[in-house]
Amino acid sequence: MGWIETERLLLRRFKPFDEPSMRQVFMDPKVMQYSMGTKSVEDVGQWLSARLTEDPRDTGSRIFAVTLRSGGSAIGYCGVTDTPDIDGEELPEIGYRLRRDAWGRGYGTESAIAVRDYAFSTLGKTRLVALIDPDNLASIRVAERLGMVFLKQIMLPGYDHPDHLYGLWRG
Ligand SMILES: CC(C)(COP(=O)(O)OP(=O)(O)OC[C@H]1O[C@@H](n2cnc3c(N)ncnc32)[C@H](O)[C@@H]1OP(=O)(O)O)[C@@H](O)C(=O)NCCC(=O)NCCS
Repeated sequence: MGWIETERLLLRRFKPFDEPSMRQVFMDPKVMQYSMGTKSVEDVGQWLSARLTEDPRDTGSRIFAVTLRSGGSAIGYCGVTDTPDIDGEELPEIGYRLRRDAWGRGYGTESAIAVRDYAFSTLGKTRLVALIDPDNLASIRVAERLGMVFLKQIMLPGYDHPDHLYGLWRG
């Protein structure tokens, strides 16, 4: 399946014209506050190229452009990726980032719920995890709305403080 529809959103494959929007995501210090800093124009271009060439049959990674059903370019992304080393285990990780002008309207929760269901029903995942900075209250709230629970602290390479691992098992 190439796309997911929710009440207000269309999660679709990325397109080249999403690049300015994704710059607004990855180059905004506020959006990247709890990540490892902002990205450069080149980084964003490479990130988008990787999305454009992703094989839609790949069950290891699906990263969707989050768009409004009314159309337009991406307001962010939401997806699931098999992350090779989470405390020695390969686990499917859900990730989401939205442009700042799209925050606070429930789009983060709406897109993440759709991706959670897609990961379990279409990709056949049995677990889903999220790695979240303990100060990132909005992201923690999204994880909780997905039904995720705090599992443990994890120290990631290059970080100066532990992230929190949240997890969910297929019901
Ligand atoms: C995380 C993110 C996608 C949430 O998007 P959003 O559309 O604003 O989220 P929602 O509107 O669905 O809100 C989710 C919940 O978080 C709460 N929330 C939102 N911003 C908050 C904040 N700054 N502090 C505390 N709670 C907050 C909302 O009230 C809501 O709670 P509720 O379910 O009890 O009503 C968005 O904040 C973002 O892109 N952040 C930067 C990137 C990032 O940190 N990604 C996650 C990396 S782990």
